[in-house]
Amino acid sequence: MSLWRRTLYKSLALALALLVAVTVFQRSLTPNQFLQESLPVTLGPLKAQKPSGHQVNLNNFWKSPSDVVTPTLEASQGPQVWDVTTTNCSANINLTHQSWFQSLEPHFRQFLTYRHCRYFPMLLNHPEKCGGDVYLLVVVKSVITQHDRREAIRQTWGREWESAGRGRGAVRTLFLLGTASKQEERAHYQQLLAYEDRLYGDILQWDFLDSFFNLTLKEIHFLKWLDIYCPNVPFIFKGDDDVFVNPTNLLEFLADRRPQENLFVGDVLQHARPIRRKDNKYYIPAVLYTKPSYPPYAGGGGFLMAGGLARRLHHACDTLELYPIDDVFLGMCLEVLGVQPTGHEGFKTFGISRNRASRMNKEPCFFRSMLVVHKLLPAELLAMWGLVHGNLTCSRKLQVL
Ligand SMILES: *[C@@H]1O[C@H](CO)[C@@H](O)[C@H](O)[C@H]1NC(C)=O
Ligand SMILES: *[C@@H]1O[C@H](CO)[C@@H](O)[C@H](O)[C@H]1NC(C)=O
Ligand SMILES: *[C@@H]1O[C@H](CO)[C@@H](O)[C@H](O)[C@H]1NC(C)=O
Ligand SMILES: *[C@@H]1O[C@H](CO)[C@@H](O)[C@H](O)[C@H]1NC(C)=O
Repeated sequence: MSLWRRTLYKSLALALALLVAVTVFQRSLTPNQFLQESLPVTLGPLKAQKPSGHQVNLNNFWKSPSDVVTPTLEASQGPQVWDVTTTNCSANINLTHQSWFQSLEPHFRQFLTYRHCRYFPMLLNHPEKCGGDVYLLVVVKSVITQHDRREAIRQTWGREWESAGRGRGAVRTLFLLGTASKQEERAHYQQLLAYEDRLYGDILQWDFLDSFFNLTLKEIHFLKWLDIYCPNVPFIFKGDDDVFVNPTNLLEFLADRRPQENLFVGDVLQHARPIRRKDNKYYIPAVLYTKPSYPPYAGGGGFLMAGGLARRLHHACDTLELYPIDDVFLGMCLEVLGVQPTGHEGFKTFGISRNRASRMNKEPCFFRSMLVVHKLLPAELLAMWGLVHGNLTCSRKLQVL
């Protein structure tokens, strides 16, 4: 714990020192030039240079004609690189004259005004991430200010490793981010994030505001990214940055699954009703969703899916209008494909016990037997990880797998 604190402070101090240096040098450069500049390798625990790591929107115009894929293949494969290079998102002024629109709360009006803007440019990309034999891609929704959560995840369940066993390969981790939602945070945090990404090379960032209603944008941007850069990855785990994950159990669970299956597993809600109480975070006005219940969906805190299904989901989601709740939206995309998400006891993304004071919330033997458990802050995550991987004697093995 204190060791971790010290490491964190050290890295923050280093980051700040670097920030000053970087600002002096980079004053005259645009953000993109800044991102593509390479730093001296002597600074900190930089890994080997990653030549393709920070290049955004490469154009292949210099390729000789023989390198180019035949047109028929290209038509069926979609773009080979992220093909959105400009932000062209204008407000839908058609809505402003409608009385039902004017009576909505401001954040719903904002959502509807920009609902038609679906794809944005990339600010940080890692096209190389799925190079080699990747078995499981772990992607984590995060926001620019939650550096400590990413740090804790890198030290625990997000650590990259090679899984042994037949047909296995690497486990790789990426964080999914938009831009800072507060204007005053933007410039400052953006440079720190670029530095963090240089150290770890694990950030995907798109040029849209990281707000609650824009989480659906994060979902579809990731699916499009996956289709372009990781078309062959067998399995994907997607989750929040405040959960506990047990990678060993994930791998054990996947051992007898095939990537070709329509595998979509998590904490599944059946017949959930849209919430109509205005003071609830998940409140949805009747004009936005008229049906009495949602299609089955898995809680966004953490779920597993097969790579092939994820690619088909990308195309299914493209046929739907965006919905402000990201996990419900993914349930709608699954419905388009006629695929049912599967519920599993080991995914506890909606809470463990109704009783918040329940001893289960602190019980390492319980965490050891689970795949995903929701809501742990960085210090709690590090502590629980230590307990679960220490000398733990559990009276009986909880059988969930
Ligand atoms: C932006 O969108 C508008 C309307 O949708 C279109 O007329 C214009 O050509 C677009 N501009 C660019 C640069 O794509
Ligand atoms: C606004 O209305 C016009 C005319 O009905 C339509 O063509 C256009 O697509 C609408 N704009 C948006 C952003 O939906
Ligand atoms: C989502 O992001 C876009 C682009 O930054 C922004 O224009 C829009 O207002 C955001 N929507 C919400 C609901 O925050
Ligand atoms: C775990 O147990 C072993 C042997 O019983 C002991 O040597 C070791 O120090 C223990 N580790 C911790 C972290 O308690």
